[in-house]
Amino acid sequence: MARGISKAAVIGGGVIGGGWVARLINAGCAVSVFDPNPDAAAGIEAVLARNHSAQLRLWPGQAPRRGKIHYATSIAEAVAGAELVQESVPERMELKQAVHAEIGAALEAGAVVGSSTSGLLPSIIQKNMPNGDRMLAAHPYNPVYLLPVVEIVGGDRTAPDAVARALEIYTAIGMVPVHIKKEIDAFVGDRLLEAMWRESLWLVRDGVASAGEIDDVVRYGLGLRFAQMGQFMTYRLGGGAGGFRHFLEQFAPSLTWPWTRLMDVPEWNDALVERIVAESDAHAEGLSVDELERIRDNNLVDFLKVLAANDWGAGRALQNPVAASLDEKMPETMLEEMFDGDKLVPWRGRVEDDWTDYNNHMTEYRYLHVFSLATDELLLACGGGAGYVAQGFSFYTAETHIRHIDEVAAGAEIYVETRVFSDGGKKLHLFHAMYAVDGAGDGGHLLATGEHLLLHVDMAAGRAVPMPASIAEAFVRIAKSQAGRDLPQGMGAGISMNKTKKATN
Ligand SMILES: NC(=O)c1ccc[n+]([C@@H]2O[C@H](COP(=O)([O-])OP(=O)(O)OC[C@H]3O[C@@H](n4cnc5c(N)ncnc54)[C@H](O)[C@@H]3O)[C@@H](O)[C@H]2O)c1
Repeated sequence: MARGISKAAVIGGGVIGGGWVARLINAGCAVSVFDPNPDAAAGIEAVLARNHSAQLRLWPGQAPRRGKIHYATSIAEAVAGAELVQESVPERMELKQAVHAEIGAALEAGAVVGSSTSGLLPSIIQKNMPNGDRMLAAHPYNPVYLLPVVEIVGGDRTAPDAVARALEIYTAIGMVPVHIKKEIDAFVGDRLLEAMWRESLWLVRDGVASAGEIDDVVRYGLGLRFAQMGQFMTYRLGGGAGGFRHFLEQFAPSLTWPWTRLMDVPEWNDALVERIVAESDAHAEGLSVDELERIRDNNLVDFLKVLAANDWGAGRALQNPVAASLDEKMPETMLEEMFDGDKLVPWRGRVEDDWTDYNNHMTEYRYLHVFSLATDELLLACGGGAGYVAQGFSFYTAETHIRHIDEVAAGAEIYVETRVFSDGGKKLHLFHAMYAVDGAGDGGHLLATGEHLLLHVDMAAGRAVPMPASIAEAFVRIAKSQAGRDLPQGMGAGISMNKTKKATN
């Protein structure tokens, strides 16, 4: 298995930098970010919220992993101790060079610097950079947290072992690095995109098809093929039984016909810009960028799941983050960070779009889903996560009682506050309370409670056994810290016909 990394730096936290932060924390990596824009953190949090939704959809029933994020106040601070530095500042050569000079000066021995540049040559970026032999282009695709490919391009000064280490690191964080053999403007992906983009502009400019119609030709047809087979394999099938050679012989002559405008570029003027924007606006059917991004992510997640089920293409790159974390050390501060004052809050999130029923309210089994995510996070923080399960022990839920108190709609921010009752023996008694963050006072308003009895189990022996001291100590410590408080309302309650009668009277 590739050697992973535990600390990374992201320099520039816009669309792509935010995506890298998400990709890295999904892999359990601590990330230090530097971006001089005071609004950058809010932008990154929005990307992280989309990533969180995507991870919940990708790995149902599993709490998304989250490495720690630190917002640094300088490049040097962010880069200190990082094994991977990913630069994602705007695509201007002078800016890239200046930023890389600072990164290089603060770089740790053995670290790798990847530039997200879409096509600037790494040889020029690294020219005067200290430790420039550790720098290469590492060009991802948007959204970085879902699309696995990253093009790796070395420059004149790039050391072969920096490339080798980069291939290891990007693989370890669930990506598919493609090492481009020769340094060339725009690498591979953007050269292909550029050809299609140029032709699309001509078709709009000449009034052959609208922006929306061109998108339809792609999304209803050739795009669906490309996502699974790419250019060559798709054409290979076009030859039918005669094979790829037959296809090439049949269609080779058309390459000399004037079908495409090749390098010719339409004049870039206000009229063309207005036309493209208006046609694309009409095609977007009033959906905002945020809505379109969520639709894109949901579709990408479902495509990836289909490809994984068929053991094909990008589906093969999917790495379950829980499996990847088995031999990782649990973050020591995770439990402390769950405390909000004296409240233990193991889970925060939002009601996902596909969690609602026909009333547009969170559907009933998702209440249990949220409570089980909170339980999983708490178990992880107390030492009972996937690594512990791999040793043959686990916590099994023996009994659950959920009270549905109020409804909640898609998009609402919610969190779970937990009371722990444990003497560190075989049993663990949890009382979760789910709240909506809606400005109704400090704590939001109560949506549901979930009371659960868990047993600590030796899986090989098939029976409940006392928890080991390290885990017992964590639960007993929480239980003692909460012991002075009133018992939660509804704890130990059963279903009562009297109450039901009252409610229906
Ligand atoms: N947007 C895409 O689809 C895409 C895809 C692949 C690669 N890229 C490449 O990724 C890079 C970033 O593109 P983007 O779309 O995220 O741009 P962006 O404008 O969304 O983000 C750039 C960020 O860099 C920050 N920044 C500016 N100067 C900085 C400095 N000196 N130090 C640290 N941060 C600084 C800005 O405040 C901004 O938040 C570019 O090289 C681009 O070519 C973009």
